[in-house]
Amino acid sequence: MVSPPEKKRCDTDESKAFLSAKTIGKTILSYDVVDSTNAIARKLADEGAEEGTVVLAVRQRTGRGRLNREWHSPKGGLWLSVILKPEMKPSEAVMVTLMAGIAVAKTLATYNLNTSIKWPNDVLIRGKKVCGILTEMRGEESKINYLILGLGINVNFDLEELPEPVRDLAITLRHEIEKDLDMQELLSCLLKELDKCYELLKSGSSNTILNTWKDLSETLGRNVKITTQKESIEGIALDVDEIGALIVKTKEGRIHKFVAGDCMHITRAV
Ligand code: BTN
Repeated sequence: MVSPPEKKRCDTDESKAFLSAKTIGKTILSYDVVDSTNAIARKLADEGAEEGTVVLAVRQRTGRGRLNREWHSPKGGLWLSVILKPEMKPSEAVMVTLMAGIAVAKTLATYNLNTSIKWPNDVLIRGKKVCGILTEMRGEESKINYLILGLGINVNFDLEELPEPVRDLAITLRHEIEKDLDMQELLSCLLKELDKCYELLKSGSSNTILNTWKDLSETLGRNVKITTQKESIEGIALDVDEIGALIVKTKEGRIHKFVAGDCMHITRAV
C-alpha cells in the first residue's frame, strides 16, 4: 500500500523555532500525519538539512521503535526527530541517546514527575514506559555523518489507544497527572533541555552526562536479562562504561559489555 504524501502542517509552526537555541530547535518542521518522523529527518539530512532541525508530527502511521519494533503513535503523543551531526566516533553515539534520556527526565521533572531510565533509553514513571528513544546513525567507520534522534513521549491520550501487551507496560502523562498537558509548552521545555544537554556533551562533559544518567538509572544494581541478536545473558547490571556500554556480571563471574540489546529487569539484586 502506498501512503499519501506527507503534508506540512502549517508553515507558521516554523516561526515557533527557538531563536535562543544553540543547535536543537532552530528550525522546526511540523507535519500532521507521517509514516515516521525519523524517516523524514533521514531524508532531510541526506539532502543536507542543517544540524538541529526538528521534525514533528501529530500522528505516525508506521512509527518505528528499537529493534525494528512497531511504535504506536496516536494523536496526543509528542513524536519528533532531531538531526544531529556530532563530531564523535560512531562508537560514542550511545552517549547521545543517554543525554536525550536525561533531557526528557529533566523536562518531566519540571512537572513534578519522578522518572527513572531503563538502559539504554526507556524513560519510566513508576516502572512504566512514558518515553522511548531511537537513535539512528549514518556514517563511516570512524566518522558520524549524521544521527537521527527520535523521541516518542506518551502525553495526552488514553492507554486504551495502545494495543496489548504494550498497554500494560506503558503510561501516558494524561494518565499519570489526570489532566492534559499543553503540548507547545512541553515541546518548548524539551527542546531547551535537549539543546542544553547536547551543548554539554559537545563540550566534552561526558562524565557529567554519565553520572547524571547513573543517578537516574533503574537498571544498575538489578538482575537483568540482555538479549542481542547473538546471545541472551542474565546477570547483575554493574555499571556503564565511559561510552555508555552496560557492564553485566553473570553468576559464574563472567563480565559482559553491551552497546545495544533488549534489557529486561528481573529483580533488584541484594
Ligand atoms: C523505543 O523505545 O523502541 C524507541 C521508540 C522511538 C519512537 C520515536 S517517535 C518519533 C520517532 N519516529 C519514529 O518512527 N520513532 C521515533
